[in-house]
Amino acid sequence: MTELDEERQLQEYDKGGMIAVIEAYPDQCREGIALGDGFRPEIPTGVDKVIVCGMGGSAMAGEVARRFSRVPVFVNRNYTLPSFAGDGTLIIAVSYSGNTAETISGLDAGLRARIPAFAVSSGGKLEEIARSHGIPHLRVPRGYQPRAAMGYLALSVLRVLAQAGLLRIEPDWEELIHALESVRDASRAAVPEADNPAKQLARSLYGRIPLFYGTAGNTDLVAMRWKTQVNENSKQPAFWNVIPELNHNEIVGFSDERLRQGLSCVFLKNDYDHPENRARIEIMHELLHGKVPAVVIGADGRSELSQVLSQIHFGDYVSYYLAILNQIDPTPVELIESFKRRMSAR
Ligand code: PA5
Repeated sequence: MTELDEERQLQEYDKGGMIAVIEAYPDQCREGIALGDGFRPEIPTGVDKVIVCGMGGSAMAGEVARRFSRVPVFVNRNYTLPSFAGDGTLIIAVSYSGNTAETISGLDAGLRARIPAFAVSSGGKLEEIARSHGIPHLRVPRGYQPRAAMGYLALSVLRVLAQAGLLRIEPDWEELIHALESVRDASRAAVPEADNPAKQLARSLYGRIPLFYGTAGNTDLVAMRWKTQVNENSKQPAFWNVIPELNHNEIVGFSDERLRQGLSCVFLKNDYDHPENRARIEIMHELLHGKVPAVVIGADGRSELSQVLSQIHFGDYVSYYLAILNQIDPTPVELIESFKRRMSAR
């Protein structure tokens, strides 16, 4: 059995040092807020929609913006822009590497249509394009996996949107950092499994295919992030879906006893769920009893922002411990890299 409490065991698999990055995440978020604070792009008045061009880990900055914005935010994961891009649109191109083809193509389309834009990256082509077109560019520190730089990407963008009056919340940044720190204090590697909820959840998911269920407009982005972190850190299949929609289709998929073997459900709730969606979680949890292992996970923190981001942070720990149980290094994502190489070699 893989021992999650032995430092030697963690070091054996975690060659890329992912645990240090996760444990420094509250500080990274603090730096992300400061980066956004110091970056004051000129945002035209009258912005009535935002398009965030970004893929994978970088797209999470868009998901967080979507969750808290007072104007519609569309997370554009494609080469082209949606047809509604035009007057009143602000484009934010986010690519950690700065070299993601879809993100660059989306920004190019926006620049051709003379849509106001700014870009966020650690360098790469995005920075060059921003410089050559004279659009504001925020540079975040290099040396991270894109998904592990979410604090820099998402918090800097959120801070910029707050300054521009485009959020529907007034973030309490200090409260957010405290909520993240309390997740870290409970889930960090030094806390033994007997007292560590992230290690315990990872253990319960080990060897199974997790289905992460969030609630519409609330924890849906958390479910998406948990799924992608389990894919990339733990290197195994995982899926996500949203309540209430899944009660109208996916729920029937649990009918066949043979096919539901090996699945595990994780419901992600917080204090800001619609009461009807909370009831749906309870009923579904009861319905699955005896069929599929299922747990309901709540959130730390007080505000909506803290609850969403601290639950995301907790999921980062879970995916990390699951990687160790899977006896794999959480950091490298060779399949993503080789896929990108094959695409650009064409
Ligand atoms: O986590 C990852 O490595 C990926 O999901 C990347 O974020 C994705 O491929 C896009 O790359 P970038 O974030 O550098 O734009």
